[in-house]
Amino acid sequence: MEILDAIRRRRAVRDYKPEKVSPDLLRQLIAAASWAPSAMNEQPWHFTVVTDRNLMGEISIQAKAFILKSLPAMPRPGHFQDILGDPHFNIFYNAPALLVISAETQGQWCVEDCAMAAENAMLAALDLGLGSCWIGFAQAWLNSEKGLQALGLPQNYRAVAPLIIGHPKAEMPPVARKISPVNWIGDGLLTQVRFPIPATIGAHEAVTHS
Ligand SMILES: Cc1cc2nc3c(=O)[nH]c(=O)nc-3n(C[C@H](O)[C@H](O)[C@H](O)COP(=O)(O)O)c2cc1C
Repeated sequence: MEILDAIRRRRAVRDYKPEKVSPDLLRQLIAAASWAPSAMNEQPWHFTVVTDRNLMGEISIQAKAFILKSLPAMPRPGHFQDILGDPHFNIFYNAPALLVISAETQGQWCVEDCAMAAENAMLAALDLGLGSCWIGFAQAWLNSEKGLQALGLPQNYRAVAPLIIGHPKAEMPPVARKISPVNWIGDGLLTQVRFPIPATIGAHEAVTHS
């Protein structure tokens, strides 16, 4: 698959077939993630694979309760209240696997490094016929004492990227991108442009100057 095509086609997948993801495919995702760039080539990432549905269900329950407790401090509390208060809502959308990319917190760029690895894993998943979605809802509880314990991680680790993985039920429709604001500085001249994101990368569209 062409890289530009893959970047454009990757979608957050929230509906999966019940079939398991083979250990070989999960290993390929870990390998792809590990080819990501990292600050000072530290390669600080650690991977946790969870295929235990009971544990994933339990993490979902704990994560929802954890966020609901801290809701007043969050943006759009009403929106979250409805979703997270629903006992039938599984934050992992019943996906068959969870891949958590984490690192020791002492690394200055551990979040950036793990996020780079996560994007690699999500693009690789697409290429391998799998779907993926970063589940930010899981992060707060996974980084609690009990959450890190549940993943078998030491307390000085930070779970950066919880990614669900599975075989998608259907191809996801495209999700439109907002117009990107760009400061374009060339030859001492700053121009502010608004860059419409084309449906396919590589197509050159007109740039609108503000
Ligand atoms: C840091 C981060 C956290 C996210 N958390 C969630 C989440 O908790 N639940 C969810 O359904 N999607 C989550 N997503 C997926 C986004 O909603 C999704 O990427 C966005 O709507 C754009 O859709 P696309 O990925 O299909 O282009 C998250 C994505 C990122 C990058």
